Amino acid sequence: MNGNNDAPTPTRPKPVSTGSELDRQLALHGGRPVRHAPWPTYDKGAVFIHPDDEDAAVRAIRSHLYFRYDHRAENETECGRFEDELCRYFGTRHALAVSSGTAALALAVMGSGVPPGSLVACPGFTFVATPSAIVLAGCRPFLVEVDDDLRMDLDDLRRRWRPDIRAVVVVHMRGFAADVEALAAFAAEQGVPLIEDAVPALGAELHGRKLGTFGAAGAFSTQSDKALNCGEGGFLVTDDSTLFARAVALSGAYEGRLRRHFPHGEPPLTGLDLPLLSLRMDEIRAALLRAELTRLPQRLALFHRNYAHVAAALAGLPGIAVRRPVAPGAYLGEAFVFRVPGGDAGWFARALRAEGIDARNIGADDDLNVRAFWNWRFLYDTADPGQIRAMLPRTARLLTETVDVPLSSNLTPDDCDELVHAVRKVAAARDTAQVRP
Ligand SMILES: Cc1ncc(COP(=O)(O)O)c(C=O)c1O
Repeated sequence: MNGNNDAPTPTRPKPVSTGSELDRQLALHGGRPVRHAPWPTYDKGAVFIHPDDEDAAVRAIRSHLYFRYDHRAENETECGRFEDELCRYFGTRHALAVSSGTAALALAVMGSGVPPGSLVACPGFTFVATPSAIVLAGCRPFLVEVDDDLRMDLDDLRRRWRPDIRAVVVVHMRGFAADVEALAAFAAEQGVPLIEDAVPALGAELHGRKLGTFGAAGAFSTQSDKALNCGEGGFLVTDDSTLFARAVALSGAYEGRLRRHFPHGEPPLTGLDLPLLSLRMDEIRAALLRAELTRLPQRLALFHRNYAHVAAALAGLPGIAVRRPVAPGAYLGEAFVFRVPGGDAGWFARALRAEGIDARNIGADDDLNVRAFWNWRFLYDTADPGQIRAMLPRTARLLTETVDVPLSSNLTPDDCDELVHAVRKVAAARDTAQVRP
């Protein structure tokens, strides 16, 4: 599959055939699986890439100019052009391409002037990179519960608030917009910056505005199956020139190179009082990303089409709770995440895997998942998962009920139908007396 995919066409889920007994019986129990082909994911080669993207990378390799800072003017480099294009795409004043999403997030925290050693609030449901970036920035993560739709819970943040929390990092986890407007208003009330970990939601919008542009800065990754992907990399966007200048200096713009990022005036600082952390982007990856950016709208439409197809077909299925967006359409669509309230989500995910769908129970005991906060052992004085779970009991319960299925933008409507069929089959089997996990 590649970026030549036809433009998305609206599709209606196919009716699920009742089939034979062998079709109805769970594959987990010897029945016929819903699908035999591997579920398309990035790590199995389902990459959204166009021959023009490959050509762009090859051109950059042939240029022999791999470092972003050389004799060329900023707007003649791949990194500089990528940053200009990102500013146009996001409508921000500044953009900085860097070596990873973690680097972008850490630079945003450091750039916002949060003193080292401060507490920085973040949700208890995110990828381990979020608290890791806070640690990289010299700060201490302060975990907050999530709500039933797995979004950072503002009420819990309010309840737990302490004056030594000096920033809030909100995460648009699994591509779903957090309630970022309310969180930004709360952070402003407290006089602290709100930073968006928008890594899983590149291109998604809330109320017509791109995620990553609601706070002091938005951090993105271009690693693995992100909406723009080049293996490793990331970027941050911001309107705050001081935050930006600090981030540029910290990322490795030494000996006057900071000035190149301010073509219309002087940077607000020299950068000499900041360490140089060498978190730069290189020219080859920037060339690839620039080419991919031209096809991003097409890819986003495919993500949306797939997600809308699956979510509409499974809405209201008894026994599962599909995540509700904070506003209509406020998601990327890179994953189908649902809960099995009061049920055994570990069994549900296992049954889906047997049907040929890559599904994981996020809070599973037998599947190490670093999106579960009790696996972030570096944060705690104790290694006892029970004690750690008790710190955020609601999030622990919700994650234990949660099933996560990756939705590649390369999925076809038939793939989506098979996912729908498999979820219905597993849910139906669970509800009959014949099956017990
Ligand atoms: C929510 C979130 N934040 C940050 C990151 C870190 O990105 P990177 O791997 O580019 O450092 C990831 C990676 O997938 C992520 O999912």
